[in-house]
Order: sequence, then C-alpha cells, then structure tokens
Amino acid sequence: MSETINLTLRVWRQKGPRTQGSLETYKAIDISTDMSFLEMLDVVNEELTVDGKEPIAFDHDCREGICGMCGVVVNGRSHGPEKGTTLCQLHMRHFSDGDTIFIEPWRSKAFPVIKDLAVDRGAFDTLIQAGGFVSVNAGGAQDANCLPVPQEDAEKAMDAAACIGCGACVASCPNASAMLFVGAKVSQLALLPQGKPEAAQRALSMVRTMDELGFGNCTNERECEAECPKEISISNIARLNREYFKAGLFSSVM
Ligand code: SF4
Ligand code: FES
Repeated sequence: MSETINLTLRVWRQKGPRTQGSLETYKAIDISTDMSFLEMLDVVNEELTVDGKEPIAFDHDCREGICGMCGVVVNGRSHGPEKGTTLCQLHMRHFSDGDTIFIEPWRSKAFPVIKDLAVDRGAFDTLIQAGGFVSVNAGGAQDANCLPVPQEDAEKAMDAAACIGCGACVASCPNASAMLFVGAKVSQLALLPQGKPEAAQRALSMVRTMDELGFGNCTNERECEAECPKEISISNIARLNREYFKAGLFSSVM
C-alpha cells in the first residue's frame, strides 16, 4: 500500500561550471513511496518554482532505465542504494520517513558540472567516436543465420551491449576510470564476427582517447561493477586489456 514520507534533502547547487557550489537544504513533504527518485525531485522543483526560486537542474530522458541520462550520487552511492537500478527506476519505498538524503553530481575531472546535478558527459561521446565504425554489413533480420555466432559469445556480447553510457562507473571509481564503459563497448563488437575487422584499431584508439580525456587507470577496485545499474561485469575490462595487448602485438595500426 502506498504511504507518504517526509524527507530532508541536502542537494548540491552550483550555478555554472566555473562557480563554486555548496549543499543546500530542502524539505520534501508528503512524498508517495510509489514515486521514483526523479518524481520526488519533480515535486521539490514544483514547490521551488511556485516560490519563485530556481529549480534543481538534473538530467533525465526516458525514465525507464534505458537512455543513460539520469544519474546522481545519493548518500555516497551512484544511482542510490539499490543494486542494478538506475536513478529513474529507484523508488522512494527504499527510504524511510524522516531520512536525510545527500544528493550530489557525478564527480570526475572528465565530467565537469554544468549546473547543480547535471554534468557534461560529452567525453563518452568522444570515446564512442574514437571507436569508429563497423565495416561488415549486418544485413536484415532474415540474414541473421548467415553469420553463425556461438551462443556463449552472443550472450556475452548482448550483456556488454546493455551498457547505457550513464557514467556511474567513472563516478564510483577512485581513479575516475572509464575502463568498464570502454571495456563494454570494445567487448560487444570484439565478440562478434562483424566487429573483428576493426577490432585492433578500435581498442587502440579508444584506450588512447580515454587517456587523453583525463580518465584514470583501472586498479581493480571493482567499484564500477558494484555500482553499474546494468551490472556490466569487469570481465569486460580483462577482455579490453587482451584486445589492446593483441592489437599492440599483431596489428600494423598503432
Ligand atoms: S558500464 Fe555501467 S555504469 Fe558504466 S556507463 Fe555503462 S551502464 Fe553506466
Ligand atoms: S532517465 Fe533514462 S536511464 Fe534514467
């Protein structure tokens, strides 16, 4: 049965990329436990707007756990306390009446704050561009059986393709490493025959670009895997390392 709860929010407010931010306190009153975290923020924003105050800026789009746009740090956890859950799919039933909730943006040099809780994740777009294209025509649905793919590889590729590019892995990592994201993107193609022709170029270029963009290195902390809302496995980081090593050894593209 739906209940209502009252909360105290400590929210990071920052007017722009170059201004200093601080935590501000707001009350969230009569919040239905059926609401999502973003709907709770909508309620707070409605009240701020009615009072003539600036609403809290935060990113979102699909609100269905698909697009990767949402994401903030809730009480020190990327996307909040529930495992395998995006912020838009996090329900207020996971909080208790009277709770104080700390809400902060992703913190990483490569993801500068635009405003309040919204950060610039353009570095991920640059990484995807660095990955380049796939030259093998995948064909239509009726062509699917022409290129046999072992079931196990197909499953692993699909698991890697579940990455929605939210950036929680970077925000959770003490090194602000993008290895889980890049590992997922490299893996989803390296595992399939269609991804093989450009596999070496892709691994080399994405790793080089990752370093240039200021992301840190992986030191096996595994915070990325623990906080990833799509539960992307760090075995994809091991595959990225193998692909990069192979490309360096056997490829003419350096
Ligand atoms: S690996 Fe997980 S945490 Fe990182 S961008 Fe992809 S979905 Fe988000
Ligand atoms: S708003 Fe699209 S994943 Fe959360």
